[in-house]
Amino acid sequence: MTTIKQMLAANKKWARDKKKEDPTYFKRASANQKPELLWIGCADSRVGPDQLVSLPMGSVFVHRNIGNLFATNDLNSLAVLEYAIDELNVPNIVVCGHYGCGGVRAAMSHSGIQPVDLWLDQVRFIYHRHAAELDNLSEKERWDRLSELNVEAQVHNICRNTIIREAWKRGQKITVIGLIYDIHDGELKKLGIEFDSLDAWEKHYSTK
Ligand code: CO
Repeated sequence: MTTIKQMLAANKKWARDKKKEDPTYFKRASANQKPELLWIGCADSRVGPDQLVSLPMGSVFVHRNIGNLFATNDLNSLAVLEYAIDELNVPNIVVCGHYGCGGVRAAMSHSGIQPVDLWLDQVRFIYHRHAAELDNLSEKERWDRLSELNVEAQVHNICRNTIIREAWKRGQKITVIGLIYDIHDGELKKLGIEFDSLDAWEKHYSTK
Protein backbone atom coordinates (compact mmCIF):
# COMPACT_ATOMS: atom_id res chain seq x y z
CA MET A 1 0.00 0.00 0.00
CA THR A 2 2.60 2.52 -1.10
CA THR A 3 -0.05 5.02 -2.06
CA ILE A 4 -1.60 5.20 1.41
CA LYS A 5 1.87 5.48 2.90
CA GLN A 6 2.74 8.28 0.50
CA MET A 7 -0.54 10.00 1.21
CA LEU A 8 0.02 9.99 4.98
CA ALA A 9 3.59 11.20 4.57
CA ALA A 10 2.44 13.98 2.24
CA ASN A 11 -0.21 14.97 4.78
CA LYS A 12 2.35 15.22 7.58
CA LYS A 13 4.57 17.39 5.45
CA TRP A 14 1.66 19.58 4.36
CA ALA A 15 0.44 20.13 7.95
CA ARG A 16 3.98 20.90 9.10
CA ASP A 17 4.65 23.34 6.23
CA LYS A 18 1.31 25.04 6.72
CA LYS A 19 2.00 25.61 10.44
CA LYS A 20 5.47 26.89 9.65
CA GLU A 21 4.26 29.47 7.15
CA ASP A 22 1.19 30.49 9.19
CA PRO A 23 1.23 29.38 12.87
CA THR A 24 -2.45 30.28 13.50
CA TYR A 25 -3.78 28.71 10.28
CA PHE A 26 -5.43 25.65 11.83
CA LYS A 27 -6.73 27.64 14.76
CA ARG A 28 -8.60 29.90 12.36
CA ALA A 29 -9.57 27.11 9.96
CA SER A 30 -11.11 25.00 12.71
CA ALA A 31 -13.08 27.86 14.27
CA ASN A 32 -15.93 27.83 11.73
CA GLN A 33 -16.72 27.39 8.06
CA LYS A 34 -18.16 30.10 5.83
CA PRO A 35 -18.23 28.57 2.37
CA GLU A 36 -19.11 30.74 -0.61
CA LEU A 37 -20.07 27.82 -2.80
CA LEU A 38 -22.03 24.63 -2.70
CA TRP A 39 -20.44 22.47 -5.39
CA ILE A 40 -22.38 19.56 -6.80
CA GLY A 41 -20.03 17.62 -9.03
CA CYS A 42 -19.09 14.22 -10.35
CA ALA A 43 -17.14 11.75 -8.21
CA ASP A 44 -14.67 11.36 -11.11
CA SER A 45 -11.11 11.60 -9.76
CA ARG A 46 -10.16 14.19 -12.41
CA VAL A 47 -12.68 16.83 -11.44
CA GLY A 48 -11.97 17.75 -7.81
CA PRO A 49 -13.28 21.28 -7.21
CA ASP A 50 -10.48 22.35 -4.86
CA GLN A 51 -7.98 22.13 -7.70
CA LEU A 52 -10.23 23.55 -10.43
CA VAL A 53 -11.24 26.78 -8.75
CA SER A 54 -8.20 27.49 -6.56
CA LEU A 55 -10.26 28.70 -3.61
CA PRO A 56 -8.84 28.45 -0.09
CA MET A 57 -9.88 25.71 2.30
CA GLY A 58 -13.22 26.53 3.86
CA SER A 59 -14.65 28.12 0.70
CA VAL A 60 -16.41 25.20 -0.93
CA PHE A 61 -19.05 22.90 0.53
CA VAL A 62 -18.88 19.80 -1.62
CA HIS A 63 -21.29 17.11 -2.72
CA ARG A 64 -20.11 14.62 -5.32
CA ASN A 65 -21.55 11.47 -6.82
CA ILE A 66 -21.43 9.54 -10.07
CA GLY A 67 -22.81 11.79 -12.81
CA ASN A 68 -23.19 14.93 -10.63
CA LEU A 69 -26.85 14.23 -9.96
CA PHE A 70 -29.13 16.08 -7.62
CA ALA A 71 -31.68 13.34 -7.27
CA THR A 72 -34.88 14.65 -5.71
CA ASN A 73 -35.47 11.35 -3.90
CA ASP A 74 -31.93 11.14 -2.55
CA LEU A 75 -31.78 11.96 1.14
CA ASN A 76 -28.06 12.68 0.92
CA SER A 77 -28.47 15.38 -1.76
CA LEU A 78 -31.45 16.89 0.05
CA ALA A 79 -29.62 17.02 3.38
CA VAL A 80 -26.63 18.70 1.73
CA LEU A 81 -28.84 21.33 0.09
CA GLU A 82 -30.77 21.98 3.29
CA TYR A 83 -27.63 22.34 5.37
CA ALA A 84 -25.92 24.56 2.78
CA ILE A 85 -28.89 26.90 2.50
CA ASP A 86 -30.40 26.93 5.97
CA GLU A 87 -27.29 26.62 8.14
CA LEU A 88 -24.35 27.82 6.07
CA ASN A 89 -26.20 30.48 4.06
CA VAL A 90 -24.21 29.60 0.99
CA PRO A 91 -24.80 32.31 -1.66
CA ASN A 92 -23.77 30.27 -4.72
CA ILE A 93 -24.68 26.78 -5.89
CA VAL A 94 -22.71 25.26 -8.73
CA VAL A 95 -23.77 22.15 -10.59
CA CYS A 96 -20.71 21.09 -12.49
CA GLY A 97 -20.79 18.37 -15.11
CA HIS A 98 -17.85 17.36 -17.24
CA TYR A 99 -17.07 16.13 -20.71
CA GLY A 100 -15.79 12.57 -20.79
CA CYS A 101 -18.10 11.57 -17.93
CA GLY A 102 -18.13 7.79 -17.49
CA GLY A 103 -21.49 7.97 -15.72
CA VAL A 104 -23.14 9.74 -18.65
CA ARG A 105 -21.50 7.32 -21.05
CA ALA A 106 -22.73 4.31 -19.07
CA ALA A 107 -26.26 5.71 -19.09
CA MET A 108 -26.05 6.08 -22.89
CA SER A 109 -24.62 2.69 -23.62
CA HIS A 110 -26.42 0.21 -21.42
CA SER A 111 -28.91 -0.33 -18.65
CA GLY A 112 -29.10 -2.97 -15.97
CA ILE A 113 -30.02 -3.68 -12.39
CA GLN A 114 -26.72 -3.03 -10.64
CA PRO A 115 -26.73 -0.09 -8.19
CA VAL A 116 -24.80 2.14 -10.57
CA ASP A 117 -27.29 1.40 -13.38
CA LEU A 118 -30.22 2.26 -11.15
CA TRP A 119 -28.49 5.43 -9.98
CA LEU A 120 -28.00 6.51 -13.60
CA ASP A 121 -31.62 5.86 -14.63
CA GLN A 122 -32.28 9.56 -14.30
CA VAL A 123 -29.72 10.29 -17.02
CA ARG A 124 -31.48 7.77 -19.26
CA PHE A 125 -34.76 9.64 -18.74
CA ILE A 126 -33.02 12.88 -19.70
CA TYR A 127 -31.79 11.17 -22.87
CA HIS A 128 -35.29 10.05 -23.79
CA ARG A 129 -36.67 13.52 -23.20
CA HIS A 130 -34.15 14.94 -25.67
CA ALA A 131 -33.90 11.97 -28.03
CA ALA A 132 -34.99 14.00 -31.08
CA GLU A 133 -31.97 16.29 -30.66
CA LEU A 134 -29.49 13.69 -29.44
CA ASP A 135 -30.20 10.97 -32.01
CA ASN A 136 -29.05 13.30 -34.80
CA LEU A 137 -25.60 13.81 -33.33
CA SER A 138 -22.39 11.84 -33.70
CA GLU A 139 -21.52 9.61 -30.75
CA LYS A 140 -18.98 12.06 -29.31
CA GLU A 141 -21.33 15.04 -29.73
CA ARG A 142 -24.14 13.08 -28.15
CA TRP A 143 -22.00 12.25 -25.13
CA ASP A 144 -20.99 15.89 -24.71
CA ARG A 145 -24.50 17.21 -25.24
CA LEU A 146 -26.07 14.73 -22.82
CA SER A 147 -23.52 15.83 -20.21
CA GLU A 148 -24.72 19.43 -20.71
CA LEU A 149 -28.41 18.49 -20.65
CA ASN A 150 -27.76 16.53 -17.48
CA VAL A 151 -26.36 19.65 -15.78
CA GLU A 152 -29.42 21.61 -16.86
CA ALA A 153 -31.72 18.92 -15.45
CA GLN A 154 -29.91 18.94 -12.10
CA VAL A 155 -30.17 22.74 -11.87
CA HIS A 156 -33.87 22.27 -12.54
CA ASN A 157 -34.10 19.66 -9.77
CA ILE A 158 -32.49 22.07 -7.32
CA CYS A 159 -34.61 25.07 -8.28
CA ARG A 160 -37.89 23.21 -8.00
CA ASN A 161 -37.00 22.01 -4.54
CA THR A 162 -38.89 23.45 -1.57
CA ILE A 163 -35.67 24.17 0.33
CA ILE A 164 -34.41 26.74 -2.17
CA ARG A 165 -37.86 28.04 -3.12
CA GLU A 166 -38.58 28.89 0.52
CA ALA A 167 -35.16 30.52 0.88
CA TRP A 168 -35.72 32.66 -2.22
CA LYS A 169 -39.20 33.59 -0.96
CA ARG A 170 -37.79 34.86 2.33
CA GLY A 171 -35.27 36.99 0.42
CA GLN A 172 -32.13 34.88 0.81
CA LYS A 173 -29.61 35.66 -1.94
CA ILE A 174 -28.73 32.47 -3.80
CA THR A 175 -27.47 32.03 -7.34
CA VAL A 176 -27.66 28.60 -8.95
CA ILE A 177 -25.45 28.08 -11.96
CA GLY A 178 -24.78 25.15 -14.28
CA LEU A 179 -21.23 24.66 -15.56
CA ILE A 180 -19.38 22.08 -17.55
CA TYR A 181 -15.74 21.23 -17.06
CA ASP A 182 -13.63 20.27 -20.03
CA ILE A 183 -11.16 17.64 -18.87
CA HIS A 184 -9.18 18.19 -22.09
CA ASP A 185 -8.19 21.79 -21.40
CA GLY A 186 -9.04 22.31 -17.73
CA GLU A 187 -11.59 25.07 -18.35
CA LEU A 188 -15.03 25.57 -16.88
CA LYS A 189 -17.68 26.68 -19.35
CA LYS A 190 -20.99 28.42 -18.66
CA LEU A 191 -24.08 26.83 -20.14
CA GLY A 192 -26.41 29.83 -19.98
CA ILE A 193 -28.18 28.26 -17.03
CA GLU A 194 -28.13 30.66 -14.11
CA PHE A 195 -30.90 31.68 -11.73
CA ASP A 196 -30.92 34.06 -8.79
CA SER A 197 -34.61 34.14 -7.93
CA LEU A 198 -37.79 32.10 -8.11
CA ASP A 199 -39.09 34.52 -10.77
CA ALA A 200 -36.05 34.10 -13.00
CA TRP A 201 -36.27 30.33 -12.79
CA GLU A 202 -40.04 30.14 -13.32
CA LYS A 203 -39.81 32.48 -16.32
CA HIS A 204 -37.14 30.29 -17.90
CA TYR A 205 -38.94 26.99 -17.40
CA SER A 206 -42.38 28.24 -18.37
CA THR A 207 -41.01 28.87 -21.89
CA LYS A 208 -39.76 25.30 -22.24
CO1 CO B 1 -18.33 12.00 -14.37
